Amino acid sequence: MTSTLNKTKTYKEKRDKYVLPAVKHLYKDAPLFVKGKNQFLYDDTGKEYLDLFAGIVTVSVGHCNDRVLEATIKQASTLQHTSTIFMTQPMVDLAEKLAKITPGNLEVSFITNSGTEANEAAIRLARLKSGKSEVIALEHSYHGESHLASSLTGNHNWRPNLPAANSIVFAANPYCYRCPFKKTPDNCSLECVKDVERVIQTQTSGSAACMIAEPIQGVGGAITPPDDYFKELMVVLKKYGIYLIADEVQTGFGRTGQAMFGITSYGVEPHIMTMAKGLANGIPIGAMITTSEMAQACSKQQINTFGGNPISCATAIAVIDTVVEEKLMENCHNIGNYLLNSLKELQKDFPILADIRGKGLMLGVEIADKDKTPLTDLTAKIVEDLKNNGIIIGKGGIFGNVLRIKPPMIVNKGNIEMFLQQFQKTLTKLK
Ligand SMILES: Cc1ncc(COP(=O)(O)O)c(C=O)c1O
Repeated sequence: MTSTLNKTKTYKEKRDKYVLPAVKHLYKDAPLFVKGKNQFLYDDTGKEYLDLFAGIVTVSVGHCNDRVLEATIKQASTLQHTSTIFMTQPMVDLAEKLAKITPGNLEVSFITNSGTEANEAAIRLARLKSGKSEVIALEHSYHGESHLASSLTGNHNWRPNLPAANSIVFAANPYCYRCPFKKTPDNCSLECVKDVERVIQTQTSGSAACMIAEPIQGVGGAITPPDDYFKELMVVLKKYGIYLIADEVQTGFGRTGQAMFGITSYGVEPHIMTMAKGLANGIPIGAMITTSEMAQACSKQQINTFGGNPISCATAIAVIDTVVEEKLMENCHNIGNYLLNSLKELQKDFPILADIRGKGLMLGVEIADKDKTPLTDLTAKIVEDLKNNGIIIGKGGIFGNVLRIKPPMIVNKGNIEMFLQQFQKTLTKLK
């Protein structure tokens, strides 16, 4: 035991000395994870944790999933790297697969290393194709950590104190629990859609290259727009000739339990879609997909050393096959509904579970007082106590008061019951 404690302590000291201080961990008392298998993580003491956050919504089919691992190892021992200037099978096969599973005419991909890069590529394409520069984003959004992507992010927690990239404007968020227009779901008149038109008229030159939006905001705290939001938004964007980029980095690959991509469940087809995270179950990857017509705007050579990496692409193909063949989208739907309904039951005893939202296995629980005051410290304590009791969940929202539950898509009812039991104990203890 002593040597284990020393190991964790040694790593904390090394981390503090050698890792950028901006790289912060979720916990005050961070475990040292050394192993993962399916929906479980293990620390260096051998303690098991039920992982309901999946490495920030990334380990889509479970840690070290046998089938996916086999594909990764096979590719790693055959061909590891060439770069995009050479032709390889996995990149082309993945691009073909993405064309088949994405909606409508989306067909032509650029494979990257991360969601940030995918969003960079998407904005570049929209600007090149439209000949315009302005971009609309949503408040509370998160789109990545580069200069451009953090400038597209409408959340002060994730923006450096530096000059932002220019030509970016923000529209009000479709955030029903804290509606910026003081409406309730009963009298909602989609003022948030009207706000996009107001922003176009008052903060742009009268149009924009594109608008970027997450179908459900992830880092923002599972903020789920009203059902008609995106359909009505498309009417406004069409009127002004503005492309829609759906950032599916968190909502992609069946996680919302309703469709392979989050935007599809709103009945909308974007001009460009970006993805990353769950696509390769933790092996770095990202992708931007668009129509063949739009793609022609990117005909000047574009290079990405690691983009389309054979190992990442072979892994992604195995992930997609696993999601489809093992019916994991259906599992997200069934287990997600069970969890959502159970949380709503729990809410009756614990009103601090102020808003429970999301779809499938992309759920958020906003922790707030009766008057909606965010209970930020309590949220951190809940997350820490769950971890001490062997359960990992995430935390987000602009006030840091939203519990984020986004497990590997393979979790079962027993796992959820175990979580609910411990959650109830934690809430009882801390309330
Ligand atoms: C919606 C969304 N877009 C983009 C990104 C950036 O992806 P990455 O961290 O792979 O660069 C994230 C990361 O959390 C995200 O949640």
